[in-house]
Formats: sequence, C-alpha cells, structure tokens
Amino acid sequence: MKRPVRISVTGAAGSISYSLLFRIASGDMLGKDQPVILQLIDLPNTMQALHGISMELEDCAFELLHSIQLFDNAKDGFQGAHYAILLGARPRGPGMERKDLLQVNAEIFTVVGRAINDYANRDVKVLVVGNPANTNCLIASRNAPDLSPTQFTALTRLDFNRLRGAVALQTGANSKDIKNAIIWGNHSTTQVPDLYHCKLHKQPALFQMDESWYKNECIQNVQKRGSQILNARGQSSAASAAKAIIDHMRDWALGTQNEDWVSMGIVSDGSYGIAKGIVYSFPVFCDYGRYEIVQGLNINEFIQEKMSLSEQELLDEKTEVERLLPKETELGHNNLSISLRSELIGEYSET
Ligand code: LMR
Repeated sequence: MKRPVRISVTGAAGSISYSLLFRIASGDMLGKDQPVILQLIDLPNTMQALHGISMELEDCAFELLHSIQLFDNAKDGFQGAHYAILLGARPRGPGMERKDLLQVNAEIFTVVGRAINDYANRDVKVLVVGNPANTNCLIASRNAPDLSPTQFTALTRLDFNRLRGAVALQTGANSKDIKNAIIWGNHSTTQVPDLYHCKLHKQPALFQMDESWYKNECIQNVQKRGSQILNARGQSSAASAAKAIIDHMRDWALGTQNEDWVSMGIVSDGSYGIAKGIVYSFPVFCDYGRYEIVQGLNINEFIQEKMSLSEQELLDEKTEVERLLPKETELGHNNLSISLRSELIGEYSET
C-alpha cells in the first residue's frame, strides 16, 4: 500500500464538496491503491456542519481514508498538501454572471495562493473551481511565486463533459465513443465548445450530425448550461461539478487514456496565439502528473473568432484584478515541469 497523500479542500462544508469528498475517499480520484488524508477547510462558522460531514465520512469506513482534519484557516489547512481543490468562493446567485464575482472572490484567492505557496508540498497540484475560476486561478498562481504556474489549473472539465454529454444525447452514441472534443477559453459564456476535431466512433463527429445543431444550439447550450442549472435548481451545479473535479484530477495525476485529450484551464504559454499569462482552457494530454498542450490543430475562422473573444474577456478580467497580481513571472512551460510521478506520490514525507 502506498503512503497517504494530503488533499486540501476549501469550501469543504459546501454542496460541491458534499458530492466530492466521498468519491475521493473511495479512490475514484487517485486510484484504488492510494490512501488519502483529507484536510477540510472552511469558515469558522461552518465548523459544526463540517464536523457532521467528517462523521459521515468516518461512518463509511472507507479503506483508503487514512484520516480527516478540519481547519478554519488556510495556513494550517494547506500544510503539506499534495493536492489543493479550491471550491471556496462566494457563489453566484440567480441573475449574476461569473464576472460579477470577480472583485469579491479575487481577495480570497490572493490569501489562498500565498498560503499554498508557504505551506503546501512543493509538488502540489492546484485546481480552482470557485468562479470566476480562470482569473481566480491566475490570482492564486501569481501569489505563489515559489511554485510553478503549471501547478495551478482551473476547471473547464465540467464544460468538456457537458459538450460530450450533449453530443451523446444528440447522436445516441455512448460518451466513451466521443473523443477529442475541446473547450477553449474562459469558463464563462464566451467559452468555445469545439467539435471540429471531435471523433464519433473514430470518424469525424460533425460528418455524423447536423452541423447547424452544433453551431446554433449546442454551443450556446454548453455556454449557458451553468445558468440553466442555477435557474432550475436555485443553486449552482454540484454533483456534475464534483464529477468533473474527479475527472480533472485523476487524469492530471494518473494520465489521459487512449490518445484522447481533455480540456484544462492552464496558464497560457502563447500556444495558438493566445496571450501568455492568462488562464485559458486548452486541449491537453496528461502523463505522470504533467500536462502538455495538444499542438498543431487547425483552427477555422468560426472557432478562431470565438477564441479571440474569450481571450479578450480574460484579458479584461486580468486588468480588473491587476492590483492583486504582485509580479509577472516567467511563464515558459518547457522550463517549468512538475516532477510528480503518480507512482511516487506515496513516498513523500508527511511532515
Ligand atoms: C457551472 O458552470 O455550473 C458553475 O460554474 C456554476 C456557475 O455558477 O455557473
């Protein structure tokens, strides 16, 4: 059995967390041979609820759950963390766009970025989920100058899963037969769901469906799915977000499968002409804890125009939070590799 890894989760008393923690503890995220220590972080006034979740986790008698620790502060909560899942943020209410949350949540991610920088394991992998996720991720990364920007990612796997789910529903195919979908850009309504490289049963997907459905319905539906769910449920998506988090972290840590790529929000290295230094969703392959942007894809005018719009939105968001970005870092991905190999995870010291 491997030695346990430490997983810090902020916003741990919230509803995404409630769908997430039990799956992490059962081995869905890091594999059935990887014990975990859960370091659950939330505000002081949620500690009673967090204690309740902790009791439920204990009551599941998960074989892989080494221990649970509860924290009301970031400093202690990120101590030694190998993985940090950042759910904690002011949630979006009905009628609000993600960008409305920008200033409110930006401050949180400054503090969290510093705490991760100072207390987490040097190989920590960070996933930002709280919205606006891309720019929050940028703020956290820039406030962690001792870590590589490649260690910070934002969740666009939810959009990626939504796109594949929509294609499955439209074509009647099983989602396992839908490969090479892409989400470019921001986790917002400017995101770009791209099916031009997508394969359905190993053949180009768009040849097997009505392209006007893709252009006139599918794209908008995926872009607006978060709001649709919020309006229908009265609160943001939770279980599907948790599933996407599991998928994102599992693929990052353990590798993508069978030449199928996934989409992750990562710090742009300038690929596809996207401005360096914003957190933008790209198609990536993952292997042994590292990711690499899929290069050389042909981008048509229809997609290019949308990619630029999403890029501009992220540049505007960056301008709005400039005061919280302490210094420019050198963002050459080739020089900034993460050395975390999944089979070595268990060998890290726990101190
Ligand atoms: C989603 O896409 O469902 C989430 O980002 C929640 C939200 O507020 O949009």
